[in-house]
Amino acid sequence: MSEKTPPPDPIRPRSPLPKDNRTGNDRRGSDRRRSQHQAVESERRIGDRRKHDRRVEKTSPYHNLVRFLKEKGLYPHEKAYDQPDGAEVVFRGKSILSLASVDYFNFAQNPEIKKTACEAIRKYGAGGFSSRLSMGNLSIHMELEGALAEFMGKESVLIFNSGYLANLALITSLLPRNATIFLDQKCHLSIHHACLMSQKKYFRFSNNDMSDLERLLQKHRDEPEKWIVTLGVFSSNGLLAKLDEIAVLARKYKARIFIDDAHGIGVYGDRLRGAADHFGVLDEMDLIMCPFQMAFGNIGAFVVGKRYLLQAAHTDAWPYMFTYNIPPVSAASLLKALEILGREGREYQKKLWENVAYLRRALTEIGYKILNPNGHIIPILIGDDVKVCAFAQRLFHQGVWVQPFYYPAVPKGQATVRVTCTAGHTRSELDHAIRAFADASLWLANS
Ligand SMILES: Cc1ncc(COP(=O)(O)O)c(C=O)c1O
Repeated sequence: MSEKTPPPDPIRPRSPLPKDNRTGNDRRGSDRRRSQHQAVESERRIGDRRKHDRRVEKTSPYHNLVRFLKEKGLYPHEKAYDQPDGAEVVFRGKSILSLASVDYFNFAQNPEIKKTACEAIRKYGAGGFSSRLSMGNLSIHMELEGALAEFMGKESVLIFNSGYLANLALITSLLPRNATIFLDQKCHLSIHHACLMSQKKYFRFSNNDMSDLERLLQKHRDEPEKWIVTLGVFSSNGLLAKLDEIAVLARKYKARIFIDDAHGIGVYGDRLRGAADHFGVLDEMDLIMCPFQMAFGNIGAFVVGKRYLLQAAHTDAWPYMFTYNIPPVSAASLLKALEILGREGREYQKKLWENVAYLRRALTEIGYKILNPNGHIIPILIGDDVKVCAFAQRLFHQGVWVQPFYYPAVPKGQATVRVTCTAGHTRSELDHAIRAFADASLWLANS
């Protein structure tokens, strides 16, 4: 068969003439063809990319929910407010009462802490410097760790720049390599994420279900390193973990315990040391993690525990080693927060619980179904994902900001609004919120 010469490609430039023979016109012509070809190629690639993006979007499991919410105007765009103002926030010039903040003692707005922060900025500057193993560790960070160890009555402390990273570091690197993890199904997503990444064996037990936990411990009793992992207070339903019973099971099956007590420290316990202190089992907790955004009104997190468990962070825990330390202004503010907690923490705690009791009573009288009988987090069951967004939006238009929780934050069909008040809310502010809830309940009944 005779070989056919392929027809010339109209777009691809033909091979240029030998350099010496090319005239100026030849060169300009071939340059023009080359740039036309490049333009067509890049448009083709952009087109392919768009088609690919559309395909990925359509096959994403959230695509239908996102499209549906957008059509209904319920897509949860993160609302950007202009300024916090005590228990309120200023949103486009309008004051909105916040019942969504977990800054339980309003320390982010505390005048004494703000003054300390201003002085620290003058001394250290406004930002951070580096990771702790590099230039990011100042003597004020070490001072903070010492003060936190004393506050919690524990041997050793490490600070992290977020609770998420602290959980990641603990589960992936600080728990021994051969650890088998038994985790409560309602642990924070950072813990689930960490377990997935850790390549360790892990088993989930039903929320706060001690017989399910014991069943798993019994089944895997021969595992050499058993770790029970739970929250002190469950952030989605406000329940207090049964740490007293967990401590008994840990003793029985020779397991160790790690709790994330984000919402317990400061709020529970005579010494403000959290859920484990409340049950009198603080000494039996091997590791406790707490982010600073709750009882301390700041950013970052700390972990307390035995020195031998924490020291591996400096060599093994990437989420500790390869990220910036909290800035010194945060360390200074946190030291001041600890000083205030030491001085008048019990009064802050009492005020918070009085506000919680007042709000709970009123919401129950209106007829709301609160998912737990007595926690400081007040989760109201709404059920439907779309309805919960509309409900939160309705309250927002009435000047009250509450946080809707829906899938994947909670299981499908169990959408809730999480209501949290702080020690700083006044009675008249709470009464304003209660009126808005009463109005929204009528809307809910008719929708
Ligand atoms: C229980 C719990 N653990 C961990 C975290 C994560 O903390 P951070 O926001 O500091 O990463 C949160 C944050 O809301 C939380 O509620």
